[in-house]
Amino acid sequence: MTENKLSIEKLKNLQWKIMQDVSASALIPLMRIGDELGLFIVLGKQGPCTESEFSNFAKIDQRYAKEWLLAMCAAGYVSHSDEVSKFYMSEEQKAVFSFEESSAFMLGAFDILSGNIHNIEKVKTAFKTGQGVNYDDSHPCIFSGTARFFRPSYSLNLLKKWIPAIPDVERKLKNGCNFADIGCGFGISSMMIADAFQNSKIFGFDMHKPSIEIAIKDAKKQNLNNAKFEVADAESYCGKYDVITFFDCLHDMGDPLAASKYAFNHLNEDGTLILIEPSASDSPKENFNTIGQMYYSFSTMGCIPTSKSQKKGLALGAQAGPKKLIKILEESGFSKCEIVKKNATNMIITAKK
Ligand SMILES: C[S@@+](CC[C@H](N)C(=O)[O-])C[C@H]1O[C@@H](n2cnc3c(N)ncnc32)[C@H](O)[C@@H]1O
Repeated sequence: MTENKLSIEKLKNLQWKIMQDVSASALIPLMRIGDELGLFIVLGKQGPCTESEFSNFAKIDQRYAKEWLLAMCAAGYVSHSDEVSKFYMSEEQKAVFSFEESSAFMLGAFDILSGNIHNIEKVKTAFKTGQGVNYDDSHPCIFSGTARFFRPSYSLNLLKKWIPAIPDVERKLKNGCNFADIGCGFGISSMMIADAFQNSKIFGFDMHKPSIEIAIKDAKKQNLNNAKFEVADAESYCGKYDVITFFDCLHDMGDPLAASKYAFNHLNEDGTLILIEPSASDSPKENFNTIGQMYYSFSTMGCIPTSKSQKKGLALGAQAGPKKLIKILEESGFSKCEIVKKNATNMIITAKK
């Protein structure tokens, strides 16, 4: 090692960045424990309490309660009042951690992070063999985590920003149309659309049976008679549709070109294909930032192994970028492809025949 050639400043910056990342990663198990034991809900509901009151409310050991609360305070996830020596959550902290239905809710990310840790052995083997890991074999945290991770963004954007940005689709949904949500997972996006546009028939398809079973149960609970869910992969669903969507899933597929061609053939003449993908630049270098760090990591542990486990195994990755995605759409026959919306985490691409 050529230590004398090291820039001390660069080394210190790198080490500080690592410390920040290690510090953030150290929270992962505590977040899962807090989530599974309902600690954020208890603290949000009870309001300011001492560690002893909190441990009683949450029915957990006081010493663990105290250390967990202090770790959360150090992270800025929980607050502490020195005057009264009590722990509490601000309205913002409650929105992010205590209210599952809040559009600010962010606990789902930690399900995915935990799921990825559980999947290390399988993905490590895949690194060596070049094979994939079947989505079905992922830790169950991944399935629930995906739904909980994406729901807030969908509830903030889907009906308020994304659909209104595609007036033709909004009009069709209002008047009544057939809408297919491919790779729908737990069907969160399908159910939001079904609830808002009761004249339309919404069909959610996914190859993952346990996810579809949850979607069917949830739609029943919500009395959404216009939402139907079926186990089918992106090249086997039946029917013709006015709108076909791929919410954060085209890049997970082994053969996105075949999936896109299949959608082309199952879309009515004046139909619209909507692609929701993680925001990314075409140049990897421009994705070397906080969002890119998260998406490339999720992609390495989830999207690449899932795609590689399927036929062709094209492994586009979660940061494929618009150029590659639009090329796939054009190669499958679509002509008018455009990015209609983009925010820090998602981009919305539409395509017409
Ligand atoms: C990241 S999840 C997104 C789920 C859902 N669209 C959402 O936004 O919450 C990717 C989904 O794609 C599904 N998937 C992957 N490959 C598929 C394929 N070839 N056909 C159908 N679904 C597929 C997975 O089962 C998984 O539910």
